[in-house]
This record gives sequence, C-alpha cells and structure tokens, in this order.
Amino acid sequence: MKSHVLRPLYVAILVLAVALIVRQRLVPEGFGAHERGYMYGWHNMNDEQFWKKFPVKYKSSDYCKECHDDKHSSIMRTPHGVIQCENCHGPALDHPNEPPRLPIDRGRAQCLRCHYPLPYPTSGRQNIKSVDPEEHNPGAECSTCHDPHNPNLEGMK
Ligand code: HEC
Ligand code: HEC
Ligand code: HEC
Ligand code: HEC
Repeated sequence: MKSHVLRPLYVAILVLAVALIVRQRLVPEGFGAHERGYMYGWHNMNDEQFWKKFPVKYKSSDYCKECHDDKHSSIMRTPHGVIQCENCHGPALDHPNEPPRLPIDRGRAQCLRCHYPLPYPTSGRQNIKSVDPEEHNPGAECSTCHDPHNPNLEGMK
C-alpha cells in the first residue's frame, strides 16, 4: 500500500488507542447500564449509597391518604382521581415536617394548564373538557364554584 494511505491510517489507530487508554483510566469500574438495561440510563453502581440517601421529592397520592383521607377519598370518586395531589400542591419533600404545609394555588392558571382548549386532535389532551377563559366566568377563581377534590358538576359548591 502507498505510504500516503498508510500514514493517516497509523494516525487514526494511534488516536483510537489513546482514546481507549484514557477511557479505561477515567471511567470508573461500576459505570454502565447494568442489569435493568436503560431504565435508569448510564450510572455508576458504586454510587448506590449516594442514591439511597438522595431525598425523594414526590411521594404520590397514597402518601397523602394517611393524613388527608377526606381529600383522598373524595377525589378518588371523581374524574380528578387520575391526577396526583402533588401535581397541584407541589412536591411533598419531607412534609409535614419540612415544609409543615404544602402550597395551595387557587389561581385560574393552575386549572387552565389542563382545561385550556388546545387544538391537538390526535392527542388525549383534547379529551379533557375545556373552557374558554375569556368566556367562562372571567376574573373569578375556579375554586369559588368548582371543588378541585370533587370537580363533578353535580358536586358544585
Ligand atoms: C403525616 C401526616 C401528613 C401527610 C402524610 C401529609 N400531610 Fe399535608 N398536612 C399535614 C398537617 C399536620 C398539615 C397542617 C394542617 C393544618 O394546619 O391545617 C398539613 C397541611 C397540608 C396542606 C395545607 C393546608 C392548609 O390549610 O394550608 C396541604 C395543601 C397539604 N397538607 C397537602 C398534602 C399532600 C398533597 C400530601 C401528600 C403528598 C400531604 N399533605 C401529606 C399532615 C400531613
Ligand atoms: C386539581 C388540583 C388539585 C388536586 C389534584 C388536589 N388539590 Fe388539594 N387543593 C387544590 C385547591 C385549588 C385548593 C383550595 C381549595 C379551596 O380554596 O376551596 C386545595 C386545598 C387543599 C387542602 C387545604 C384546604 C382544605 O380544604 O382543607 C388540602 C389539605 C389539600 N388540598 C390536600 C389535597 C390532597 C391530599 C390531594 C390528593 C388526594 C389534593 N389536595 C389534590 C387543588 C388540588
Ligand atoms: C362562577 C362560577 C364558576 C367559575 C368561577 C368557574 N366555573 Fe367552570 N363551570 C361553572 C358552571 C355553572 C358549569 C356548568 C355549566 C357550564 O358548562 O357552563 C361549569 C362547567 C365547567 C366545566 C365543564 C365544561 C363541560 O364541557 O362540561 C369545566 C371543565 C370548568 N367549568 C372548568 C372551570 C375552570 C378551569 C375555571 C377557572 C378558569 C372555572 N370553571 C371557573 C361555574 C364556574
Ligand atoms: C393535571 C391536569 C388537571 C388539572 C391541573 C385540573 N384538571 Fe380538572 N380535569 C382533568 C381531567 C383529566 C378531567 C377528567 C376528564 C374530563 O372530564 O374532562 C378533569 C375534569 C374536570 C371537570 C369536569 C368534571 C365533570 O363532571 O365532567 C371540572 C369541572 C374540572 N376538571 C375542574 C378543574 C378545576 C376547577 C381545576 C383547578 C383547581 C382543575 N380542574 C385542574 C385534569 C385536570
């Protein structure tokens, strides 16, 4: 083979060798996708203790049931039963220790996140009943008339 073909080939092989050596030195042993495949992406198994201590932000509605059973049993009978409490009240963190209370957002924007009419015919989003905020009781908080934990129209305040 002509040397003008071989020389760049040697350079390419050298670059590849250097990259492999550097990778072997820098990437820790436990790094990879491991037995659960890509479910948790690439991670370092040696950090297991670190992740065990990692504070969980969201606890799910089952956690709230313990102390707010009234809200939980009410909402579960309604179309809002599919929404996590923390979707509206934010992450539980270490509530009721810290924070002792979770925020309550009574703003119209909170509800319009899901109830604003969006013209996406092929997505499930359009199946959620929508109201035009300019027409539907403008200026008043939605929760003055609708109970967010019992949004059934029969259950209106
Ligand atoms: C171990 C019991 C406990 C659990 C579990 C719990 N809470 Fe609470 N929560 C409390 C207490 C106690 C208060 C303060 C009550 C008060 O002052 O009226 C509170 C207050 C709140 C408030 C503010 C009420 C207000 O009137 O200002 C909201 C909202 C709330 N919790 C939502 C949640 C949600 C959502 C969850 C689940 C992610 C949850 N809580 C889980 C005990 C709990
Ligand atoms: C769709 C949004 C939404 C969801 C989902 C939701 N909430 Fe609420 N929550 C509100 C709003 C808005 C208020 C204020 C209601 C009012 O002023 O009448 C409120 C008020 C509260 C309060 C304090 C006021 C009171 O009446 O005692 C607690 C406690 C609470 N929610 C707990 C929960 C729990 C527990 C869940 C899940 C089982 C939940 N919420 C799900 C929007 C929501
Ligand atoms: C002054 C009271 C009042 C306020 C404030 C109010 N609504 Fe309503 N809402 C009603 C009444 C009454 C109905 C049933 C009759 C109708 O469809 O207009 C209704 C119906 C609905 C429906 C069902 C529509 C359907 O097609 O069946 C949704 C969803 C709704 N409201 C969401 C909201 C949202 C989101 C807000 C805040 C941005 C809000 N409402 C503010 C009184 C109110
Ligand atoms: C995370 C998305 C989400 C948020 C936020 C949300 N909703 Fe809903 N809402 C839904 C879904 C899903 C349904 C069930 C599908 C339907 O009936 O449209 C529903 C249903 C309703 C209905 C119709 C109940 C019936 O009997 O047909 C009303 C009224 C309503 N929501 C009011 C509110 C109000 C008021 C708020 C704010 C406090 C709110 N929603 C916030 C998703 C949401």
